[in-house]
Amino acid sequence: MSLKAPATDPDFVKPLDPREFEQFRELAHRTFGLDLKAGKEELVSARLRKLVRGGGFRSFQDYYRSIVQDRSGESLHAMIDALATNHTSFLREADHFQFLRETVLPGLNSPSLNSNSPLEIWCAACSTGEEVWSLTMVLNEALPGRKVRIHASDISNKALTFAQRAVYPLERCRGLSAPWLARYFIPDGRPPTGYQVAPSVRAQAAFRRINLVESYSWPQAFPVIFCRNVMIYFDRATQEKVIAGLTRHLEPGGYLFVGHAESLTRVGHSLEYIRPAVYRKPGKNGARWNRS
Ligand SMILES: C[S@@+](CC[C@H](N)C(=O)[O-])C[C@H]1O[C@@H](n2cnc3c(N)ncnc32)[C@H](O)[C@@H]1O
Repeated sequence: MSLKAPATDPDFVKPLDPREFEQFRELAHRTFGLDLKAGKEELVSARLRKLVRGGGFRSFQDYYRSIVQDRSGESLHAMIDALATNHTSFLREADHFQFLRETVLPGLNSPSLNSNSPLEIWCAACSTGEEVWSLTMVLNEALPGRKVRIHASDISNKALTFAQRAVYPLERCRGLSAPWLARYFIPDGRPPTGYQVAPSVRAQAAFRRINLVESYSWPQAFPVIFCRNVMIYFDRATQEKVIAGLTRHLEPGGYLFVGHAESLTRVGHSLEYIRPAVYRKPGKNGARWNRS
């Protein structure tokens, strides 16, 4: 235990007090929907402490003030990066990929599948990219020769930069089969310390920053949207707003995949329940869909 007097310790930061916690709680909720419940004080303090120290601040209050005064938005983005949970993995919630392959893709009618227009899917809140590449690989396997485009988004610039570089340490590649590693990745380093997604696969994805609680637009509607494991961090009103936005960008008959921990039973929406964590926009008359 340090015996240094706080005032002379260059690393000393005054502990987060309840009023400061409330300020961060309100800021995080207003700017990116995060619902920090009472009891999350330690988490907030632990996740922000590095930024407080790194900025040379002696208190969370000073750090908070610097965020709200920073017109560039950079400090706010750094706070969001620090508070958001980025956990993800390849083929996470594997039954979704199976359902996509076995039920959703065959439902897309074949003239459309043979056409030259790419099959475009939106992967929202994609974090560090494992979900994006999982989708790309599943589509390439299921629809060989078909043009595929994954539009990927996240609020975090840091996560998006990682996703685009697409280099994953060995332990994060464990869920991938040897044939997929050989087909879709290139070893990173010699001996390899990880794998990088192959350039041909990376070329099938486009990334942009989207904050799901703010307004955004796409030039087209999607037949499939993945938006998984982000709404668990939102309160009900925010979830409703986010679902409404996603629904607007689904084509009639299109599917929305959410995380298995994100049942929409208590959330108002206009989607049809298909199976756990899979919903569909009513109106299968979209030309793209086989009638079923
Ligand atoms: C736990 S990860 C989920 C990653 C992936 N979808 C999955 O299921 O494995 C949650 C992601 O949501 C992003 N996120 C949090 N709030 C967001 C918001 N308001 N808009 C867009 N993305 C957000 C975070 O940056 C993080 O990358």
